[in-house]
Amino acid sequence: MPNSLITQVFEQGYALMNSYRVGTSAKEIATSLGTLLQSDFGYRLTELVPTQKDASTPNTYSGIYGFHGFPFHTDLAHWRAPPRYLMLRCVVGFHQVPTLLVDGLKLIDLVGKDILARALVQPRRPINGKLPLLRLYQPNDGNGLIRWDEVFFRPASKVGEVGVTQFHHALSASIPLSIALVAPGDTLIVDNWRMLHARAPVPLGCETRKLERAYLESLN
Ligand SMILES: [Fe+2]
Repeated sequence: MPNSLITQVFEQGYALMNSYRVGTSAKEIATSLGTLLQSDFGYRLTELVPTQKDASTPNTYSGIYGFHGFPFHTDLAHWRAPPRYLMLRCVVGFHQVPTLLVDGLKLIDLVGKDILARALVQPRRPINGKLPLLRLYQPNDGNGLIRWDEVFFRPASKVGEVGVTQFHHALSASIPLSIALVAPGDTLIVDNWRMLHARAPVPLGCETRKLERAYLESLN
């Protein structure tokens, strides 16, 4: 990955490369940019296409929201350590369906690290038979780890309620960055521990939007 892009991700939480190495597979691009995340499920390279509610799996964003906008979230927020970086690469894109980003560091500043680090949340439904207690914010040597997913999480303590409410208000009042992946090869790298992302609604005529998604543990 070019140095300037690592710097961009470090400084602003994301980097966008327009028409980057068009014709190269998403897996090859992800592998050249960093280390692909390997989990029990394998590499998790996924094609993202808008899906109507009825045609989708319940308990997924598509199953709940269909073509409507998705709420802001951290990907795989229920993992103890969610994937560090998210790569989205355009196959078929539209200006009308941007990816929206909010910088979680600004929300932490607004709400306060102390509250968020003590704010416990829990999945609404068991995951593999478990309801792990997780913190909205986990400090570490770097910027820490922010996890947010109001759809699948609920507060699990008094401070959790305060933290979720205040974070929700700070998020609602923030003005998101809007980044449209339009041309084939447009590639967005997002720090999933820092930035919250959302998908804008999919209007008529944009149903063929297709992105490829990969998760990276680190950047080269
Ligand atoms: Fe997501």
